[in-house]
Amino acid sequence: MDRTLTCRTADDMEALGREIGETCVPGTVISLRGSLGAGKTVFAKGVARSLGIQEAIVSPTFTLVQEYDGRIPMYHMDLYRITSEEDFQMIGGEDMLYSDGVCLIEWSEIINSMLPSGTLFVQITVNDDQSRTVTLKGGLK
Ligand SMILES: Nc1ncnc2c1ncn2[C@@H]1O[C@H](COP(=O)(O)OP(=O)(O)OP(=O)(O)O)[C@@H](O)[C@H]1O
Ligand SMILES: [Mg+2]
Repeated sequence: MDRTLTCRTADDMEALGREIGETCVPGTVISLRGSLGAGKTVFAKGVARSLGIQEAIVSPTFTLVQEYDGRIPMYHMDLYRITSEEDFQMIGGEDMLYSDGVCLIEWSEIINSMLPSGTLFVQITVNDDQSRTVTLKGGLK
């Protein structure tokens, strides 16, 4: 996939997450990139909704990973606070990457070299008017 689009509002971002969520299959890995408050968790919420998850979705900044039961299990990670690949191993991160779930990873830069080849990269940039430019790259299709 190689697509760039604009999300004017948080609702647009959630809708984009829902659209991408429809394409998720067991083993899908999505790397969410962008500054603090860019909208990574809003996107993750959209994915969750299309997987049939109704729970509130919040950045797992302190728990590092949050698991949700949906049509496919969803593992939502926020690696902002981890400092090494070893930390990622300790939380069972690699097992989740190769599980039957969908993995969404905020702040995945630290485990770049561990991301599977079919990872979908979602890069979010905040524009002056608060809209977001979103670039989607990679993925299995
Ligand atoms: N166009 C937009 N797209 C997405 N979010 C927007 C947009 N405009 C405003 N927002 C607001 O920006 C905030 C994005 O917060 P969110 O928690 O998703 O960011 P994040 O990238 O996950 O940050 P963090 O790195 O702290 O986890 C929300 O409060 C959302 O309502
Ligand atoms: Mg977040």
